Amino acid sequence: MADQDAQTPVGIEPPALSVLRWAEPPEGPAVVLLDQTRLPAEEAELVCADVPALVRAIRTLAVRGAPLLGIAGGYGVALAAARGEDVARAAELLEQARPTAVNLGYGARRVARAYEEAAGSGPGPEAAAVALAEARALHREDAEASGRMAQYGLELLAELLPGGGGHRLLTHCNTGALVSGGAGTAFAVALRAYRKGSLRHLWVDETRPLLQGARLTAYEAGRNGMPYSLLTDSAAGSLFAAGEVDAVIIGADRIAADGSVANKVGSYPLAVLAKYHHVPFVVVAPTTTVDLGTVDGTSIVVEQRSATEVTEFTSKPGARGGGEGGGTVVAPPGTKAYNPAFDITPPELVTAIVTEEGVISPVTGVGLAELCARSSQV
Ligand code: MRU
Repeated sequence: MADQDAQTPVGIEPPALSVLRWAEPPEGPAVVLLDQTRLPAEEAELVCADVPALVRAIRTLAVRGAPLLGIAGGYGVALAAARGEDVARAAELLEQARPTAVNLGYGARRVARAYEEAAGSGPGPEAAAVALAEARALHREDAEASGRMAQYGLELLAELLPGGGGHRLLTHCNTGALVSGGAGTAFAVALRAYRKGSLRHLWVDETRPLLQGARLTAYEAGRNGMPYSLLTDSAAGSLFAAGEVDAVIIGADRIAADGSVANKVGSYPLAVLAKYHHVPFVVVAPTTTVDLGTVDGTSIVVEQRSATEVTEFTSKPGARGGGEGGGTVVAPPGTKAYNPAFDITPPELVTAIVTEEGVISPVTGVGLAELCARSSQV
C-alpha cells in the first residue's frame, strides 16, 4: 500500500458544537443544529425555531443521515408541541421532508403518538413536556444503539477477517457522530476498530455529488486521528483490483423486509465490486432503520434530487444541498441529470447486517424479523 498515512491529518479535538441540541427559552424553544452544509470549512450552528425551518434544514441536508433524521423528526414534533401548534400536521410535514430514510417518519410519529396520548386529557404544557421527554429518550436510545453496533461490528470483523495486520475498510457517505446521538453506525465500527488497534486504513469514498465522504467522513476521521485516504467514487474499482480493500462497511437509510438495503447512491456498485472480489460487504444500522412494512427493494421510494447538484460544483459553505444552483456550471446549458440520492443493494450482495440487537448473516427476511422482534423500538 502506498504511504497514505503521511497525508493523514493528526487527530485534534472533537467538534465543540453539538450535532443537534434542544434549546429552552429564552434561546428557544428551538432545535439547534450543527450546519452540515458548512462543514468542514466552518462549524456553525443553525437555529430552527419552527417546523418549516427544520423541514428546510432537512431538505438542504444541514441535518442528515438516517438516525439523526429520526432524532430531528422527534425534536421537530416536540417543537410544534412547545409552540402550541398542530402536532399531527407537524409530524406529517417532517415525515414528508425526505422520502427514503425511514427513521425520519419513525421519530416524528413516535413523538406525536406520545404527545397525543398525553394530550388526551387536554393539550398544553404538560403534553408538550411529554413530547420533549420522548424525543430525548429517542436521542439517548440512538446513542446506546450506536455503542452496541460498534461492538457487534468489531466482533464481526474479527471473525470475517481473522488475519493479523489490521483491517483496510472502505466506507461510503458519512455514518459517524454527525448522523447519530452516539458515534454513528458504520463509522462507529471503524472508530472502535481504530481504538482497539485493528484498523489499518480507512478508505473514504468522496460520495458524489454532495461529498458527504470528502467533507464529513474525512472531517470525522481526521478529528479522531484515524489513518484514512480519500478517493473518488470511480476509483474504488481499481482499489479492489489492487487487493487493498478487506471489507466494505456502510450504513443504511431503509432496510426492507427482505433485507434489501437503501443507502447513499454508489453503495450498490460497491456491493457488486465486493462480490466480484470476494470481499465482505457489511451494513451497520439500528433496528429503527428496518422497515418491515416495505416488502422489498423495489418498494423503497428513492429520493430524486436537483439536477444542479450534478451540473454544477460549489465550494461555498452553506450552498450545498440547497438545489438552487449558484455554483460553477460544469455541464453545457440545458443538460438534464439523473440524480437519485440513494440506490438499493439486494440482500444476496450483503454479507451481514449489524444492528444493536445483533448480527444477521446470511441476510434473510426471517432473520431480520427475528432481530426486530427483540427490539423495543420498532
Ligand atoms: O443524503 P444523506 O447524506 O442523508 O444520506 C445519508 C446516507 O446515505 C447514510 O449512509 C445513511 O443515512 C446511513 S447513516 C447512519
